[in-house]
Amino acid sequence: MNPFYLIPHTPEPYFCDRRKETEDLVRMLDNGANVTLISPRRYGKTGLIYHVFDQFSVRKDAPELFYVDIYATSGVDDFLAVFAEAIAKVLKKDSLIKSFLKFLGRIRPVVSQDPFSGEPKYSFTLQTDADRRYSLKALLDYLEHRPGRVIVAIDEFQQIRHYEGMSMEALLRTYIQPLTNVQFIFSGSRRHVMADMFTSEKSPFYESAALYVLDKIDRDVYARFISAQFAGQNKSITPEAIDYILDWTRGHTFYTQFLCNRVFSSVKKEAGLVDVLTAADAILKENSDSFLERRALLTPRQWKFLIAVAKEGEVSEPTGAAFLQQYDLGAPSTAARLLSALTEKELLLETKFPEGSSYCVYNVFFSRWLERL
Ligand SMILES: Nc1ncnc2c1ncn2[C@@H]1O[C@H](COP(=O)(O)OP(=O)(O)OP(=O)(O)O)[C@@H](O)[C@H]1O
Ligand SMILES: [Mg+2]
Repeated sequence: MNPFYLIPHTPEPYFCDRRKETEDLVRMLDNGANVTLISPRRYGKTGLIYHVFDQFSVRKDAPELFYVDIYATSGVDDFLAVFAEAIAKVLKKDSLIKSFLKFLGRIRPVVSQDPFSGEPKYSFTLQTDADRRYSLKALLDYLEHRPGRVIVAIDEFQQIRHYEGMSMEALLRTYIQPLTNVQFIFSGSRRHVMADMFTSEKSPFYESAALYVLDKIDRDVYARFISAQFAGQNKSITPEAIDYILDWTRGHTFYTQFLCNRVFSSVKKEAGLVDVLTAADAILKENSDSFLERRALLTPRQWKFLIAVAKEGEVSEPTGAAFLQQYDLGAPSTAARLLSALTEKELLLETKFPEGSSYCVYNVFFSRWLERL
């Protein structure tokens, strides 16, 4: 089997590190806090949430654990549907689901079956905002009245800022605040949006959850993990190959897992530098069409700017004369506009340090592809 998982819920021996983060989150929740988990895309927030859930689920007095992914939701009705589905998934038993639906009373969702997964799909067709408020309150009340403690993770939480109509943020805050039996993990990748939601005095969720920023996995720890995963399946990989992998993927979890997965599957016994180079080339080739398509969505200046950042790898002064002159990118004011447009589109990633910030191309494979142009 391939020990490099590509899905977020990675079981223990294949899950790399995150020991301290797991301990921290478990402790914060045990101490009664709600937690806001923030990191760039694909660092491993969802994986960590599942890992934290796994720690809780083996306890004798295990809390009930609900995972709600609201990435694909665009309004309150959607939110209610995925929330109700997440609850039903945990309840499992028909009798429990029946009593849950009964609890919802007059706002009962329409239940159908997903043709692909066979899972129940819920949909709410609510006519008024009063109904929506009532429904949300009913769902949360249901959890509040569960016999045991409840933890709910709402993943991609920043999405609620894009809902049209009523302010979901204010509403959720109002209903969540009085709960005593339910705790939350709010997780999201848009750092400034998430930070604004939880640290701006004007936002409803101001100071209502402890902020936890997830960093990259430590390089040495990741290197040992990669070596051990190969060894665990009676294969091996040279230190030089591991070094190259972690440089090339910048230690960004998803890209590291993906490349390792490919290298692992491509060798019979020992993986060396050549195998890594071959796998990396193949990945870029496969993605080439989709990368090229992105060009059509950008202005020529934006494209040029992106290539320049990719060629640098990491740029700490993207509006500074040295960078702009070297890549012929025009005036600082133009560069500032390009920078904010590309960051907004999540094509560039800004990393903040105490001394300032730096930028890189968000998608590491895209960055490696662009730098070859
Ligand atoms: N600790 C880990 N060990 C091994 N693989 C991991 C680990 N954390 C994450 N991964 C892998 O990286 C991929 C991306 O992680 P995950 O989906 O958890 O990131 P995310 O931060 O939730 O991303 P997004 O913001 O896009 O939702 C996962 O599919 C999984 O394969
Ligand atoms: Mg995620």
